[in-house]
Amino acid sequence: MAAIIMDGKALAEKVKGQVRAQAEALARTPGLAVILVGDNPASRVYVNGKKKDCAQCGFYSEEYALPAETSQQELLELIETLNSREDIDGILLQLPVPEHLDEQALLHAIRPDKDVDCFHPYNVGQLMIGEKGFLPCTPAGVMRMLQEYGIDPAGKRCVIIGRSNIVGKPQALLMLRENATVTICHSRTQGLKEECLRADILVAAAGKTGLVTGDMIKPGAVVIDVAMNRNAEGKLCGDVEFAAAQEIAGYITPVPGGVGPMTRAMLMENTLLAARMHG
Ligand code: GUN
Repeated sequence: MAAIIMDGKALAEKVKGQVRAQAEALARTPGLAVILVGDNPASRVYVNGKKKDCAQCGFYSEEYALPAETSQQELLELIETLNSREDIDGILLQLPVPEHLDEQALLHAIRPDKDVDCFHPYNVGQLMIGEKGFLPCTPAGVMRMLQEYGIDPAGKRCVIIGRSNIVGKPQALLMLRENATVTICHSRTQGLKEECLRADILVAAAGKTGLVTGDMIKPGAVVIDVAMNRNAEGKLCGDVEFAAAQEIAGYITPVPGGVGPMTRAMLMENTLLAARMHG
């Protein structure tokens, strides 16, 4: 039987509707500042999407589209200004930044209570020990989708392909928090196919088109494709061979229309949380 397709687009619309209703009940409008350095076309698309989401949720948003040559010092000064502004609840530095910039130092300069991406070491630490606070947007979006489809990770084998700070590592923490048995695979993993075949929940976040083939999927498994790649024809696709996987999996996310819109919806939730914290 073909897998159930998990509709991230529809769920994201529902979440944003809930965020808007909660934002309207606040005494002031939540505000998000987005910083984009350089002219990466994919980043431009993402930033436009985030601005649209803000409008949809009734948030104030501000964009800083800066030339690729912007210096570290100029960016640190901008972040410092945004840190001290009362109308700005969240600050997002779109990644990647140009090579001459120290990405980590910039992310660490964002005040933790405005770090709606959950990239600051303080927030990463809070996540690690299970304290309340911001959740990283993509992994949180995955967990929300599982919840919506009534999939409880407790006791299940979860295999994550990818160990990035943005997806793989925090995804493992959130799965662990929900009592899954977690394995992280990466480019040096031996026997990736065998690892994947044991997965009740498989999260692909490697960024390699066609990496996960149908014969790597356990019948009935939940297959979550986080990747956003372009195939040879320039079409958006994930890491999973969708047509083959769909025949074997129990649930599967499409690309586009799966995890991507959920990531954006979780950013709106984090911005709402920041506004609540700021009172
Ligand atoms: N670039 C790709 N994904 C992300 C993300 O989640 N946050 C930011 N700031 N930049 C990104």
